[in-house]
Amino acid sequence: MLRTALDLSGRVAVVTGAASGIGRSSAEVLADLGATVVCADINEAGAEATAKAIADAGGVATATAVDTSSAAAVDALVAGAVADHGRLDVMANIAGIMHSSSVIETRDEDLDRVLSINFKGVFYGCRAAARVMVEQGSGSIINMASGAIDAGNPNLLCYSAAKVAVVQLTKTLATEVGPSGVRVNAVAPGWIVTGMTGRHWTAEDGTEDEDRKAAVAAPMKRLSPLRTVGEPTDISYAVAYLASDAAKFMTGQILRPNGGVNMPW
Ligand SMILES: NC(=O)c1ccc[n+]([C@@H]2O[C@H](COP(=O)([O-])OP(=O)(O)OC[C@H]3O[C@@H](n4cnc5c(N)ncnc54)[C@H](O)[C@@H]3O)[C@@H](O)[C@H]2O)c1
Repeated sequence: MLRTALDLSGRVAVVTGAASGIGRSSAEVLADLGATVVCADINEAGAEATAKAIADAGGVATATAVDTSSAAAVDALVAGAVADHGRLDVMANIAGIMHSSSVIETRDEDLDRVLSINFKGVFYGCRAAARVMVEQGSGSIINMASGAIDAGNPNLLCYSAAKVAVVQLTKTLATEVGPSGVRVNAVAPGWIVTGMTGRHWTAEDGTEDEDRKAAVAAPMKRLSPLRTVGEPTDISYAVAYLASDAAKFMTGQILRPNGGVNMPW
């Protein structure tokens, strides 16, 4: 029963941020469950590498370049997926960037850039996908929030504000499109080892400083009752669940795979 509910055969998924980390893992897991996946990223070579990895593993995927901060580009991404594959069942809005600065030191352009990618990019993806899915009468939209929604974090105002806006977008859209058979949920990950967090210990040539990695992860591990940080599949499995019929009674929800760091109501 559950195996059948998780089966995505015949479904078409668009994944933004598919070149790296959580987006790449989500694209791979959705394809593993049978979906045809459009791997989209501003890093075109990275998106192509993900699509190739999927194909090498026996799945079906294409790659496309997109800057999610452009409404026209995201509209074209969704239109292209529908033109190529005939439908759109899953829209995973995962592309995002990190930015750290105190409120006092935040420049106008910092705030604009983070909101453009981390909120407006998700909004563009939601709007374009919802237009198709409402017409279709089915679909699942998954937005990437963050554990940053649940706490005050120094130097993370731009990032946290964008992610809180993603939560409100998720809940609002869920109420609007639910009657048309479209579900909208978000995932709020804890601390996951990806390119985003890896910038703390990865040199420009890609070499990793293992001591630095352990030092950066140590305080994050202490925050978790499980005494661990996450890996991309801890999040992509949640994305896959929300994408599938196993989550057909789930909408407007924020899933928090975070090792128990935050336990809000
Ligand atoms: N890693 C974590 O600990 C963590 C925790 C909470 C939430 N998140 C969220 O998960 C998502 C994925 O992050 P990640 O950790 O995998 O980071 P990552 O840096 O490994 O991947 C992010 C991807 O987004 C792409 N991207 C950035 N700007 C883009 C744009 N304008 N258009 C298209 N693609 C763009 C990048 O090229 C990259 O491939 C982000 O939304 C992030 O905020 C990550």
